[in-house]
Amino acid sequence: MIDMAIQTEKYASCVDASKRVRWDIDRDILRGRDFDMGHKLLPDSISGIQRFEFLDPHEARLLSQIQGRTYANMFGLVERFINCKVLELSQHHWTGDQVALEALVRFSDEELKHQALFRRIDEMIGETLPPGYRFDVDPDAVASVVLGKSTWAVLALTLDIELFSQLHYRQSIDPDDQLSELFKNVFLYHWKEESQHAILDELEWTRHDATVTASDRDKAVDEFIELVAAIDGILQAQAAADTRYFVANCGRAVDGAETLSVEANFLEAYRWQYIHSGARHPHFGKVLYSLISEDQGMRIQAALTTFQ
Ligand SMILES: [Fe+2]
Ligand SMILES: [Fe+2]
Repeated sequence: MIDMAIQTEKYASCVDASKRVRWDIDRDILRGRDFDMGHKLLPDSISGIQRFEFLDPHEARLLSQIQGRTYANMFGLVERFINCKVLELSQHHWTGDQVALEALVRFSDEELKHQALFRRIDEMIGETLPPGYRFDVDPDAVASVVLGKSTWAVLALTLDIELFSQLHYRQSIDPDDQLSELFKNVFLYHWKEESQHAILDELEWTRHDATVTASDRDKAVDEFIELVAAIDGILQAQAAADTRYFVANCGRAVDGAETLSVEANFLEAYRWQYIHSGARHPHFGKVLYSLISEDQGMRIQAALTTFQ
């Protein structure tokens, strides 16, 4: 009973915070502004710019803008399946803890708004950059693959994502004064609502974990690895697409060898952004390792080393 009361209090504090920080796309973020392509979008520490050699300032800015657009699109992509899972989990609170239900309903509402925000951002960046950018990943197709895995595995991936998104904002986007103000604002407001999501992911993951058998959990560990591998497949395709776009628009001839090196650097940056920064997040590790065995942890670590 005491445990239940503590849980309800955690859900309640998420509801309070969600009400306090609630924002509107046009009124609070966009405010009639457009992107100014004289500024970078994604910070150097996230875009891995130090790996790219021979970039002049124009090329460095273009690289940051391409990665920034892909960054917004990647969040729009993952938030589709995250929202589906949150709606599904809410059924466990339809009757019973109405505070927990409200927390998940708000979570879902926020992710729908975030997806709309990221679609707007993609469109607005598209109006200022040269044509030809591609992000050919269908959020519904990805959601159907992800949601085919167990809830345990999907919640592991979701907590991972929602923790790294906060880490990127706090450590890299917020302190960087070279970035577009509008882009910084997008991720400031996104971070404000994501902070509650990560708490709810953890509550739901541990609640769900208590209902699974040891063999279900063991299978779910493998499914989590399969999901990370699926993300890696998306990153490989996007690294290739973004390289083609960069080479076509950087304003000089890029030979085959340099193109290959640019693509390898894009992929390394994306793997850090969407796989390793989350997998190495201290709180993600703390929650994950409290749920799994040493052997399962080693399986995950071994799999992660293949995405280098
Ligand atoms: Fe979000
Ligand atoms: Fe979220």
